Amino acid sequence: MTGQFTIRPTRADDVGEVMAFIKASWARTYDGLIGAAAQREISDAKHVPELFAGEIGNRGAVSIVAADTQDRIVGHLGGEVLGDGCCFIDRVHVDPAWWGTGIAAALIRNAASEVAGRADRLELTVLEGNDRAIAFYVKAGFEAVANLGAAHGLAGKSAILMRLPVLAAATSRRA
Ligand SMILES: CC(C)(COP(=O)(O)OP(=O)(O)OC[C@H]1O[C@@H](n2cnc3c(N)ncnc32)[C@H](O)[C@@H]1OP(=O)(O)O)[C@@H](O)C(=O)NCCC(=O)NCCS
Repeated sequence: MTGQFTIRPTRADDVGEVMAFIKASWARTYDGLIGAAAQREISDAKHVPELFAGEIGNRGAVSIVAADTQDRIVGHLGGEVLGDGCCFIDRVHVDPAWWGTGIAAALIRNAASEVAGRADRLELTVLEGNDRAIAFYVKAGFEAVANLGAAHGLAGKSAILMRLPVLAAATSRRA
């Protein structure tokens, strides 16, 4: 896919579409890594309207979308701004038709600009075996800082903790 996309804050009227978008992306991403039943159970418990609605207009959170020219959601990033200067990114997802177009990098850059006065670093966890995501994060400048093991992963798979200073993320052009 080539085309124009806009990055903007998530709005209250996006919540239903963003939730469906994230659930579909979770199924594509994690069915093969942890099994469809485990994926669905975790996703259904986690991806409820309150999660997405609670991040909107909240200084303790960040929530942005990428929208196509018809304002359809084709990317989403959401996370939490913790008290210790960490912005923990809970999710970064792009519609596969738009992979490789720079949306994911734009989401990271915009999230960094958005939280610049509130956080000094972006952190996230990625599941071992999610090789495309890991390759993307490395390209975007993230460094793997620890393997948190299965306790912090999903359904027995280990999670890797990755980190990028906000200043580096906000000014990055490479990814
Ligand atoms: C992770 C994600 C947001 C990245 O966006 P993207 O548009 O695919 O990212 P890019 O294409 O810019 O970068 C991906 C890189 O991985 C490389 N890659 C692709 N498949 C790969 C694989 N199987 N193993 C390793 N690297 C791979 C690509 O070639 C690309 O690198 P390059 O540009 O240097 O060639 C997107 O793939 C996505 O939504 N994935 C599903 C949801 C997900 O896993 N989110 C992260 C949860 S922590």
